[in-house]
Amino acid sequence: MSAAELSGATPAEGKRTAKKVDRHPWDWYVEQAWVTHRLCDVVELERHVHYIDPTCGNCTIPQALTDRGFMAFGTDKFQRTNSPLFLNEHDFIGDQMLLIEHWHPLSIVMNPPFSCQDGKLVRGLAEKFVRKALAIATHKVAVLLPVKWLASAGRVRLFQDFPPSIYILSERPSMPPGDKIEELGERLAWKRGKVDYMWVVWDLQAPRLNHARTFWIPPRPKLATDAQLPLEMAA
Ligand SMILES: C[S@@+](CC[C@H](N)C(=O)[O-])C[C@H]1O[C@@H](n2cnc3c(N)ncnc32)[C@H](O)[C@@H]1O
Repeated sequence: MSAAELSGATPAEGKRTAKKVDRHPWDWYVEQAWVTHRLCDVVELERHVHYIDPTCGNCTIPQALTDRGFMAFGTDKFQRTNSPLFLNEHDFIGDQMLLIEHWHPLSIVMNPPFSCQDGKLVRGLAEKFVRKALAIATHKVAVLLPVKWLASAGRVRLFQDFPPSIYILSERPSMPPGDKIEELGERLAWKRGKVDYMWVVWDLQAPRLNHARTFWIPPRPKLATDAQLPLEMAA
């Protein structure tokens, strides 16, 4: 899937085929804060738990969680932000673990890289992040993924061993490549995307589910959505 497909963004309005946006080598695609706020609206996240986003990029997720009153921090393979919530550069699927990954109680909320490491395609990459998160979290693991991630022979085992709850976003998020947001411009970068996303949530404190449960997250209330559009688009 190309960056343009993921983000729904084209380089210049009216010149759809003029320039192709290349895939980011580390899959740095930035979601908007409302995506995490919608998670907080529908899933009961525990107040006494620490939250880590181990693939935090701009720290969008830790910031949204902090704004909702949770104690949240981020790490990433690369420092992409000066946010005070960013703790360390760290390879989440590497051999070493950070001290904060041993914090208990711990929940993980992340938008992991989908298939790319250093520009190379890695099969089952998102699953590696999910399995690592399931191994170290004590409470919730919430992972933002394209809906198509559910249909896979390779992941049947994961879904059978750990049946999740699935929260489908009925509003498509934009997810522009982080290093192209400036070039694309705010309006184009944050244009609604073309890919359907969901939060896949595991509750490690709850009794194991026998099968996955599916919920739909309704679109944001119209007024809130319109308020974020430029005036001429909202008219
Ligand atoms: C889909 S983006 C997350 C975007 C983020 N939510 C934001 O607000 O910018 C995936 C992120 O995973 C990071 N990443 C890729 N491979 C990683 C690894 N092995 N360990 C930790 N982070 C990694 C990338 O650097 C990128 O920032």
